[in-house]
This record gives sequence, structure tokens and C-alpha cells, in this order.
Amino acid sequence: MLYWTGLPARQPRPRPLALPGLFVAGTDTEVGKTQVTCCIARWLVRRGVEVGAYKPVATGTVPAGDTLPPQSDPVRLWEAIGRRATPQRVVPQWFALPAAPPLAAAAEGRLIDEPLLLQGALWWERHCRFLLVEGVGGWFSPLSQQMCVADLAVLLGLPVVLVVPDRLGAVSQTLCALHAMATYGPGCPVAAVVLNQVQPPGAEADVAGNYEQLRAWCPRVPVLRLAHAAEAFSPEVDWLGLGQ
Ligand SMILES: Nc1ncnc2c1ncn2[C@@H]1O[C@H](COP(=O)(O)OP(=O)(O)OP(=O)(O)O)[C@@H](O)[C@H]1O
Ligand SMILES: [Mg+2]
Repeated sequence: MLYWTGLPARQPRPRPLALPGLFVAGTDTEVGKTQVTCCIARWLVRRGVEVGAYKPVATGTVPAGDTLPPQSDPVRLWEAIGRRATPQRVVPQWFALPAAPPLAAAAEGRLIDEPLLLQGALWWERHCRFLLVEGVGGWFSPLSQQMCVADLAVLLGLPVVLVVPDRLGAVSQTLCALHAMATYGPGCPVAAVVLNQVQPPGAEADVAGNYEQLRAWCPRVPVLRLAHAAEAFSPEVDWLGLGQ
């Protein structure tokens, strides 16, 4: 039997962020982290929660003059939280090249501002009551010269929502990521796995059993589904409860 099901529970530890919230991570880039984060944000906004969103760095973001494109992560997240603060507070560092952040920064002759990766999240402490943090790429994607996504997630200590695309390989990708989350440094609590139907039904072969397989292999973690083109989770999910 998979040892993930038998890992010891981690002790709660102090975290620098005095806010409840969730860290939305993915098994990879383009798997639906922003889609899921926006669904959660809209659910919270509908309940009157003052929600903030934060993504430490975005790449492939090219502003037109002073305006960020509407389909960029900063703007999508900012819209979903009801336009709280500014897109620049949501994503304080962005770069044009669609590459890993240190490479995208280097292409512009810049370095990632490493202290800002954490400071940008802490700014939200006085400006919201619940913070959604979107990761960058996958769990071990580099954020800077020294830090990867897992380092920031461990620092923040928020429960993690893992987004997995509903395609062949989803079970292995999920278990690899959960293993890494449990064992990297002091580990991260996992709030849920979201099996995300990025493609329309029928577009992906052999995915029919993914949901049942994940539920069987991850008995300790809620496994949720986001349907293709869905604006919300159905049935509803208590995101406030998961983010405590
Ligand atoms: N459930 C879904 N239904 C339809 N389209 C989806 C769904 N989830 C994601 N997509 C689409 O897939 C693409 C990638 O999704 P998204 O931008 O949320 O991924 P991401 O993991 O945040 O990517 P990045 O690593 O660039 O931040 C987008 O065009 C998005 O609209
Ligand atoms: Mg995104």
C-alpha cells in the first residue's frame, strides 16, 4: 500500500503570515492554477470575505503601455478578488519572456527580487482577511536564483491545493507532488487535490478512471473536480474551512 497514506501528521508550526489562506500549487505550468484560484476567490467574494490574491512572479506578461493584458494572471486574479488593491500588488514582479522567472529576468538584464517574494505576500496581511497564493509552474519550479516554489510554500505554511490536469499520468503526477509536499523541509499541509478538466470531455483518452483512482490512492486528502469551462465548483466546497 502506498506509504503516502501512512505518513505521520505534521505538527502545526508558527508561520510568518498572520492570515488564513490557501496556496494553489500545480503539478506543472498551464494546468489551471489561475482557473482554480479564481473560482475559489469568486466563491469567497460571494460570501463577503475580503480576499486577497498573490502570485510571487509571472512570466510571459507583456504590458501594452501601462496596461496589463486582461488574460494575464495578475489581471485575472485581481478581477476575481473583486478588484481589491491593484494587479501590481497581486503580482509585484513580472517579465515578458515566457520562461522560468530567473531566466525571464536575466533576458531583461534583471534579477528576481528575492526578499520581495515573501514581502509581497506579507503586504496583504493588512489588506485582506483571507489570502490566495498562486504558485508558479510546478512544485519545484525555480522562482529566483536560490528559491523554488516549494521554498516559498514552506515559508508561508498555508494549506496547499494541488491542481492536476485530468489526463493520462494524473495519478503518478499527483502522488509525486504529494510526496514532495510531505517531505520537503518541514513539509506542507495539503488541503485538497483538484482534478481539473482542462480539455472538453472526450478530448483526452483514457482519463475516465482518474478521479476514482485518486480517491483510492489519496484517502487522507479531499479529491475535488473542476469541470471543463466551469466558473465554480459543483458541489460547493467550503474553502474557508480548508484554509484555516
Ligand atoms: N477547467 C477548465 N476549463 C476550461 N479551460 C480551462 C480550465 N482550466 C484551465 N483552463 C484553460 O487552460 C489554460 C491554462 O490555465 P491556467 O492559466 O489557469 O493555468 P496555470 O496553471 O495558472 O498556468 P501558469 O503556469 O501559466 O500560471 C487557460 O487558457 C485556461 O483558460
Ligand atoms: Mg496561472
